[in-house]
Amino acid sequence: MSLIEISDYRLAFDGFEGRVHVLDGIDLAVEAGEAVGIVGETGCGKSVLARSLLRLNPAPPARVVSGAIRFDGADVLAMDAAGLRRLRGGTMGMVFQDPVTYLNPVFTIGRQMEEVLRAHEPAMPRAARRDRAVALLDSVRLPGPAALLDRYPHELSGGMRQRVLIAQALAGNPRVLIADEPTTALDVTIQRQVLALIADLVERLGLTLLLISHDLGVIGAACRRIVVMYAGNVVEDAPAALLFAAPRHPYTQGLLAAMPDLRRPGHMPQGIPGSIPNLRDPPRGCRFHPRCPLAAEICRQEKPELRGAPHAVACHMVPA
Ligand SMILES: Nc1ncnc2c1ncn2[C@@H]1O[C@H](COP(=O)(O)OP(=O)(O)OP(=O)(O)O)[C@@H](O)[C@H]1O
Ligand SMILES: [Mg+2]
Repeated sequence: MSLIEISDYRLAFDGFEGRVHVLDGIDLAVEAGEAVGIVGETGCGKSVLARSLLRLNPAPPARVVSGAIRFDGADVLAMDAAGLRRLRGGTMGMVFQDPVTYLNPVFTIGRQMEEVLRAHEPAMPRAARRDRAVALLDSVRLPGPAALLDRYPHELSGGMRQRVLIAQALAGNPRVLIADEPTTALDVTIQRQVLALIADLVERLGLTLLLISHDLGVIGAACRRIVVMYAGNVVEDAPAALLFAAPRHPYTQGLLAAMPDLRRPGHMPQGIPGSIPNLRDPPRGCRFHPRCPLAAEICRQEKPELRGAPHAVACHMVPA
């Protein structure tokens, strides 16, 4: 049994203009201690998938069409309120893209750390809570953590704010850290430092990591395994080294060709022609076929299955 097991998971949003088929049969199993990166273009369903693990997609309009999600054997889709509280509050810590939105500008960092800790351990005495807040801020390598408690979010840089949010995500001693575009709002050097911190925490605390990004470079820096999503499907799932050396899905090949290559100055990265499909009326068969250079008749008719291990690919045109 894997720590996280997602099977044939379909999720749609019901809107005024009809149903949007966002996740189209996701299969993904993650072992304890793995660092898995999820990559794909904007709108492909990365954040919806991450939120699904914690049942955070508002329902309605969200609607689970089929499938199962299991965490450590427990059925997440059937979990009661107490189970969900444990899952969200303790078991899985989540970090989001924009540290500004998730910190309250009118309260000090100390007050906000305290609130998070109080939610986890209501009985903890105030002084102990303060010590724990300092220890958490220290564990994300924020300098002068005690003095930081009296600062307001606007007095911190973007990288520091993201570290505070990571510290908050660690407050419940999670087993899993879900980081959804944690570095997208940061500039490149800071981005690298925050990724190094996440990789180090995963190692030190023995966390399972799900790192979400539209940037393969970011994922490659922190994850041993990469899951590529396209329009609500997993199209490739492979050890990072294999995926970079020999990508098998035409979409992954396109993503890699779109990465700037520092070893070849003057080389212009190629974009993938076409655009992501409208999920209100997604293409039949393989959702990538309208943009795919290899598309054949079968691709327009039948959805390809994800097959192969450890290098799985969902493409009719790739030999098994
Ligand atoms: N609450 C919601 N109601 C309706 N549609 C939603 C809702 N949340 C997400 N969606 C739709 O689900 C699709 C996938 O969105 P999601 O945020 O998961 O994409 P993403 O891969 O995380 O993209 P990005 O890289 O831009 O963050 C989009 O078409 C989005 O509009
Ligand atoms: Mg997103």
